[in-house]
Amino acid sequence: IRNIPLFQDLSDEELLSISSLFFERKYKKNAILFFEGDVGEELFVIKSGTVKIYRIDNTKQITLALFRSGDFFGEMSIMQKDGTRSANAETLEPSVMYTLKRSTFYEYIGRSPALCMRLLEVTMNRLRRANEQIHDLSFLDVRSRILKAVYQLAQEYGEPKQDSVQITMKLTHQEIANMVGTVRESVTKVLQELQDDRIIAIQNKQIRIDNMDALRSKIAY
Ligand code: CMP
Repeated sequence: IRNIPLFQDLSDEELLSISSLFFERKYKKNAILFFEGDVGEELFVIKSGTVKIYRIDNTKQITLALFRSGDFFGEMSIMQKDGTRSANAETLEPSVMYTLKRSTFYEYIGRSPALCMRLLEVTMNRLRRANEQIHDLSFLDVRSRILKAVYQLAQEYGEPKQDSVQITMKLTHQEIANMVGTVRESVTKVLQELQDDRIIAIQNKQIRIDNMDALRSKIAY
């Protein structure tokens, strides 16, 4: 629990008391944690696994965020009275969550300025990212959005391997399409082009970037 950034400034004593109030829950891959519109009753902290936050519209999906071990989500609706979930949440792999009841979370926020500051800091970062997403959807073409998504996935989820970076998360072309507001076929086309240019290689559904600089320079801002 020490490794969860949200709680990192709490004293040992506070950490011990808050962790005794966690519920631990296991989920399979592609389990829905909640739907947009549900009344929010708890905060989720990821012990292990990956969660996708997304909105749907008939058949289309837009991914708003991907969260992994140490991240929290579900704070928006529980910070508002009778607040409802602003998006859907689904696991992308088998995952374990800690959940904290709204009342417990409230109590600790009231007690701990450090926890409050952390929450704000993370929220500001998420707002910044959301602005970036609005910018990209408005001003970048589809090809550049796909290139940028691959580049950012490598930066955020990549593991350096000699001169390459391996994105260890297994993402389908459809998942990448959902992240940038396009269709699967466009992702397949751009990834193929990157493979032909030997900028990336795909093995076992994992993307390895062999030339980060070349990838970045292809994004047309
Ligand atoms: P809540 O509204 O309770 O349920 C959905 C959760 O997804 C929300 O709380 C946030 O934790 C998270 N979330 C919603 N929109 C975004 C976004 N644009 N960026 C990051 N996280 C988000």
